[in-house]
Amino acid sequence: MTRISLHVNGTAVERDVEPRTSLADFLRESCALTATHLGCEHGACGACTVLVDGMIARSCLKFAVMCEGREVVTLEGLADDALSDTIKQAFHESHALQCGFCTPGMLMAARDLLSRNPIPSEDQVRAALAGHICRCTGYSGIVHAIILASRRLIPVE
Ligand code: FES
Ligand code: FES
Repeated sequence: MTRISLHVNGTAVERDVEPRTSLADFLRESCALTATHLGCEHGACGACTVLVDGMIARSCLKFAVMCEGREVVTLEGLADDALSDTIKQAFHESHALQCGFCTPGMLMAARDLLSRNPIPSEDQVRAALAGHICRCTGYSGIVHAIILASRRLIPVE
C-alpha cells in the first residue's frame, strides 16, 4: 500500500491505496463518491470523467497514486456551482438523460466546454462529446441541453 494525500472536492484526503488502484475506484470506494461512474474502464466511454487540477480527465485511466498533491473534483463537488446548475436544469428540460449512466460524464464535459467556450456551435458541442458514449438518448437531447444552457449563460441583448 502507498499513502497518498490530495484534495477531493476541496477537502484534504489522506488514504492508503494499492499502486494499481485507479482514481475512479479510489473515488468510488475510498471516498464514497459514486457520481463518478465506471463503464468501459479503458478510456472509451467518458462516464468516469472528473477534473484533475481543473482539467477534465478519465479517472479510469489514472492511478490514484498519480494524483498525489492534486485537486480532484467530481460531480458531487460541483453541487453549488452555478454553471453546473444551469447545465443540469437544461438537461432536465431537454430530456437529455434516460438511465443516467452517462450523465455525470456528460455534465462534466458540458461544463468544461462552456467554461472555455460559452457560445459553442452545434459542431463544437458534438466534438466535445465525441469521447462520451450514451446508449439511450441518441445524443440530440444532450446537444440541445448544452446549447440551451449556453443561451442562458449569455443573455440576448
Ligand atoms: S469508464 Fe473511464 S472512460 Fe469509460
Ligand atoms: S442516458 Fe443512458 S447511457 Fe446515457
